[in-house]
Amino acid sequence: MTSKSMDKIMALSKRRGFVYQASEIYGGINGFWDYGPLGAQLKKNLREAWWQDMVMNPCGGALGPSGEPVRIVPLDTCIIQHPKVWEASGHIAGFSDPMVDCRETKARYRADHLFVYAPQSGDRQGKPLFAYLPDSTSEQKQKKKAEKAFGEVVSVELVKVAKEEWASVLAPEAEKVGSLTEPRAFNLMFKTYIGATATEDDVAYLRPETAQGMFVQFKNVVDTTRVKVPFGIAQTGKAFRNEVTPRNFTFRSREFEQMEMEFFCHESEAPQWYAFWRDARMAWWKSLGLSGENLQLREHDKDELAHYAKNGAGTSDVEYRFPFTAPGFGELEGIAHRSNFDLRQHQTHSRTNLEYFDASRGELLPNGSHKGEKYLPHVIEPAAGLDRGVLAVLCEAFTEDASRPSPELMRIHPRLAPIKAAIFPLVNKEGMPETSEKLYLELFRRFGRAGFVEHDVKQAIGKRYARMDEAGCPYCFTVDGETASSQSVTVRDRDTGAQERLAIDRVSDWLSEKLGVV
Ligand code: GAP
Repeated sequence: MTSKSMDKIMALSKRRGFVYQASEIYGGINGFWDYGPLGAQLKKNLREAWWQDMVMNPCGGALGPSGEPVRIVPLDTCIIQHPKVWEASGHIAGFSDPMVDCRETKARYRADHLFVYAPQSGDRQGKPLFAYLPDSTSEQKQKKKAEKAFGEVVSVELVKVAKEEWASVLAPEAEKVGSLTEPRAFNLMFKTYIGATATEDDVAYLRPETAQGMFVQFKNVVDTTRVKVPFGIAQTGKAFRNEVTPRNFTFRSREFEQMEMEFFCHESEAPQWYAFWRDARMAWWKSLGLSGENLQLREHDKDELAHYAKNGAGTSDVEYRFPFTAPGFGELEGIAHRSNFDLRQHQTHSRTNLEYFDASRGELLPNGSHKGEKYLPHVIEPAAGLDRGVLAVLCEAFTEDASRPSPELMRIHPRLAPIKAAIFPLVNKEGMPETSEKLYLELFRRFGRAGFVEHDVKQAIGKRYARMDEAGCPYCFTVDGETASSQSVTVRDRDTGAQERLAIDRVSDWLSEKLGVV
């Protein structure tokens, strides 16, 4: 892939109102991002595409591994749960990252994110090791210093450097070696207090994932609806992680949104459902215009598996090649077989029986029915990041083409585009604005619920096209000098810049087909 500049993508995102730094007028707040008008609508469109394709019509009506319909029900659970939820899930004891501090510069790093440049010869005795954070200014600076000192250098993960050698590590931006502290486990959960007294007894946590709310309500969903295993529970919502080093634009934020689904099935069927969801989720991201070469499905190695997935069918990540990870990839979504770890933990900690009675299993009785079987269902979890999804869409869409009126354009998939169509009069006179206004109102009434429909009468037509290209609007309709006599307008395709004429009374149906909106 041609390399894209993250700086340019961030500049366009700000300029066109996709993403703003949170609290910018106060200097910003690290790890928090706001979405501008176009970004908010883009994010909503991606969330709704997920909702449509996971909840309302899972996988576009595709059948499950045994030819059964795929059933998913939605849920909306609280950001703050009973603190015991997080004890049961393992987040209080184990949801931490290894953190190191630099005593000299006072900077804080995730130990597993730092690398050092060392002599390629392998002879490190008494020599400094130059630490850096990939993709930061420290990388080139430290490389230069290391090459000056040793000639040929190799890059080594800091966590693979023996503890006795840490005294020789020169931290990024530091002057003297040995300034890094020992790694300490840092819990990523945001703490808060419930009620007015704010004592340690009132501690609660902002959820670090939406998943647990769905496990905790599993029994209620089974008891109050007619779902039968296998089925899924899905929800979207905010999650909070006090990341040690939030970075790479919105990729690693402290407040972000997830789109998660917990699919409950019998243990014997978990491998088939795991393969089903892994492939379905990869196909979904592709359907939204993320190109094949920038997407990959990566199966986790055995030693990479989370504790709850150790004995399961596996875990795979859908990964996207972001400009800051290229030529490598970054995680967009994880699909994991979580076994029945979570239900088991909540059953133990809450002392509530969460077993499911499956009337379709167990010994066959003389009357032809089954005796039934009680079990804790296994779970296949596709867990996607909405903000990372938006970021991947922005990165994929960003295109530079110096020959165009807009040297930078956003090729956002029409289903996700925040502005669905723009209508222009070629000039602001000769009856053209009146005709374009009429067409605008017609299209706004039909498509306004899917995204913005714009009517713009100002500036030269080339500038108006350029504005829409940058905003990712896929189709622009122009009322021109021929419209009155031929009852037709031009439609301009954002991606090719090509224009064709279309009968004015066909425009609405034509757009409906293109957008897939009735
Ligand atoms: N319930 C499982 C779970 O939460 P995860 O891999 O930690 O799994 C799921 O998170 C998705 O949430 C990730 O694939 C990623 O897209 C998104 N995500 C996780 N941490 C994030 C962060 N700090 N900023 C933005 N997105 C994040």
